Amino acid sequence: MNRRKFIHRTAVTSAGIGMTTVIPSGVWSAPAAPSDTLNVALIGCKNMGFGILRHHLSNPGVNCVAMCDIDDNVLNAQAGQIRENFSQNPRLYKDFRKMLEQKDIDAVIIGTPDHWHCLLLVAALQSGKDVYVEKPMANSIEECNIMVKAAKRYNRIVQVGQQQRSGFIFQKAMDLIRSGSIGKLRKINIWANFNYGAGPAIVADEPVPPGIDFDMWLGPAPNRPFNRNRFHGTWRLFWDYGGGLMSDWGVHLIDMGLWALNIVKAPEKVLVYAGNTFSEKRARETFDSMSVCYPGSDWVINFDMTAGVQRGPYDMPYGIAFIGDRATIVADRSKIQVWPEWDDEGNKLKAEEYRFTEGKESHGEHVKNFIECVKTRNTPACPPEIARAAALHVHIPNIAGRTGDSVLIWDDANNRFRNSEAANRLIAPVYREPWELPRI
Ligand SMILES: NC(=O)c1ccc[n+]([C@@H]2O[C@H](COP(=O)([O-])OP(=O)(O)OC[C@H]3O[C@@H](n4cnc5c(N)ncnc54)[C@H](O)[C@@H]3O)[C@@H](O)[C@H]2O)c1
Repeated sequence: MNRRKFIHRTAVTSAGIGMTTVIPSGVWSAPAAPSDTLNVALIGCKNMGFGILRHHLSNPGVNCVAMCDIDDNVLNAQAGQIRENFSQNPRLYKDFRKMLEQKDIDAVIIGTPDHWHCLLLVAALQSGKDVYVEKPMANSIEECNIMVKAAKRYNRIVQVGQQQRSGFIFQKAMDLIRSGSIGKLRKINIWANFNYGAGPAIVADEPVPPGIDFDMWLGPAPNRPFNRNRFHGTWRLFWDYGGGLMSDWGVHLIDMGLWALNIVKAPEKVLVYAGNTFSEKRARETFDSMSVCYPGSDWVINFDMTAGVQRGPYDMPYGIAFIGDRATIVADRSKIQVWPEWDDEGNKLKAEEYRFTEGKESHGEHVKNFIECVKTRNTPACPPEIARAAALHVHIPNIAGRTGDSVLIWDDANNRFRNSEAANRLIAPVYREPWELPRI
């Protein structure tokens, strides 16, 4: 009965006055065919996962039937918002295994830190759910491989949260590149400079605060005392859980470079500088400065990041420049501009100028694409193969930085580095018992 309940929450335009009215949730409900409803559950409720859940719930026919978090404070606060703003009453869990036993869940959103993505994805697929999993797909090469295999084996829809693939700005960039308007694409320069990547001030370990199942938060990662800097939000600066700015922003932006070049595979070779140039000692293991070069046959991608500053080329803290023979396209999530080359003799521009500065967030579109694909069973905008390619482009430079290799050669067919045994030892994480790396 519950699944047949359809709560109409769409924005409708009032005829004649051109105003947008939102019908409050729960005011009007009518039966709908089961095919029109989608019951979603969220694992990892604090920040991004919750945002993605909200995007789901602003689509008609989507219900939140379960939420799971290891932190009672987060779980109760976010569930309260879902009750208040969407008139939904999800069942609450601290252990995802119990949640996945709930029969009426169609799709699971995974919004936990990266070290949990693989285990949770496989568990959700094995219980028959479709999955929206946040980026980067996983925290290691081997986990990405497993996730690609699992999505195929269990034949479910998997969307990875590289939402720029669903937004206007980068779709426009791809149209411009594919229509030939910038000439031959020769070089892609990417940069990402953010203060947060330098890390927070160092604080001491402390007892686990009340309401938190820290053992479950650590999951497959090594056991250690609780420290706030390695927990909510800032976990991404510690290798056991994330990959620093390189993977946090790199995966989004390098994904755009790969899309432009129609590449859906791992890099064969990376040249890497990875180091720490920031003046203060902060709580962080990941690098604060990296310059990475991915050389192709007749193109090159450069990625450059500096944590602890927020200035960058074109006065943009992060962005991407697609450099063609006739013009360069410069873009971030809200703006895109074509900068034409000019002809020496006639001073004529070699391409048409173009500028758009009102880009919208693309999360909502990416979620819509997922919902659509759950219904049609079509391949979503960012399936596991695409996400794996982007993830390997960030994990390999991080591995190079950790082993001190300035060049790594990757043999994708044999899943190993050709030139570094130290790097080979970082392909797969060692899971802490009782957790085991899934075998598919
Ligand atoms: N697509 C984007 O633009 C974007 C932006 C930010 C973050 N992200 C991604 O979203 C994910 C979450 O990042 P965040 O910044 O929201 O992290 P966060 O630390 O703010 O939230 C993670 C939540 O997961 C919970 N959690 C951890 N382990 C759990 C488990 N085993 N079971 C249930 N809950 C668990 C935590 O308690 C916390 O509430 C990451 O993979 C991150 O890379 C994506």
